[in-house]
Amino acid sequence: MILLDGKVLAQKIKEDIKKNIENLVSKGYRPPTLSVILVGDNPASQIYVNKKIKDCQEVGINSKPFFLPRDITQLELEELIGSLNGDDEVDGILVQLPLPSHINTLEVIEYINPKKDVDGFHPENVGKLATGRDDGILPCTPYGIMRLLQEYNIDTFGKDVVIVGASNIVGKPMALLFLKDEKSTVTICHKNTRDLKSHTSKADILVVATGVPHLIKADMVKKGAVVVDVGINRIDGKIVGDVDFENVKEKVYAITPVPGGVGPMTVAMLLQNTFDIYKRKFTS
Ligand code: GUN
Repeated sequence: MILLDGKVLAQKIKEDIKKNIENLVSKGYRPPTLSVILVGDNPASQIYVNKKIKDCQEVGINSKPFFLPRDITQLELEELIGSLNGDDEVDGILVQLPLPSHINTLEVIEYINPKKDVDGFHPENVGKLATGRDDGILPCTPYGIMRLLQEYNIDTFGKDVVIVGASNIVGKPMALLFLKDEKSTVTICHKNTRDLKSHTSKADILVVATGVPHLIKADMVKKGAVVVDVGINRIDGKIVGDVDFENVKEKVYAITPVPGGVGPMTVAMLLQNTFDIYKRKFTS
C-alpha cells in the first residue's frame, strides 16, 4: 500500500514558492499579498484560517487578515471586499466558509474580483473550469488532489472515478477536473444516493468528502483502488477522516492519511494560486 503523503509534497511546493518569491523580491518586486477574511468564531474555521496565515508567512506571502464579528451585515462585508478588489497591492482575497446564515454566501463570492478569487469559487472561474478553459483559478482542494495523484504517477485516463459528496468546494469541481479532456468516467454520489456501496465498490479512484466520520468501510472499496479522503472530523480530540483508514488500507493500492493527506495540499494550492496571480501581474 502506498501512502499518499500530502504533508511531504505540500512542503516541497511551499519551498518552491518561497524560493520564487525570494527571487522576485530580491529583484525589487513587492511580495505577494493575500487578504484572509474570517467572519465569526467558528472554532474549525479559526484553526484553518490561522494555518493559512502561518503558511503565508512561511513562504513570504504577506497575509492581510480580517477577523470580523459574527453580526456583520452583507453590505459591510461587501464593502470590505470592494475595497480589496480595488487595491492593487492585494493579489488574492479569501473569504473563509461557512459564513453565518444571515449572509448570502453565493452573493459574497460573486462580489470578489474573479482575478483575485484564490479559492476558485467565483462563477467565472467555475465556468472556465466547466468549459475546459485553462485561464481560470482552480479550487484548492480538488487542485491539490490532482497534484498529489500526479506526484505518485497515478494515471486517471479511462479510470472509473467515484466522488462521494457534491459540494461546490470539493465534489463538483473535483468531478470537472477528472472529466477534463474526457479522461475519467465520473460518478458523483451524495446524501440522497441510494445504495452508496454499489457505486463506491466500482471505483478505481474513490474521493470522499462528506464530513461523515468513517462512512466508507472496507467492504465498500474495490481491491487495488486509490482512495482519497478529504474528511477532517474531530472525535474525542482526535482527527479522523471519512474513510475507515485502518481497515480500508489493507486492500487498496494507495490511500491518503488523515491528517497529513489532502489537508496540507489544500493550503499549498492556496499559496500556489496566490503566487500565480501575483506573478502573472508582473510577467504578462
Ligand atoms: N471552508 C472549507 N474549505 C474551504 C476552502 O477551501 N476555502 C474557503 N474559503 N473556505 C473553506
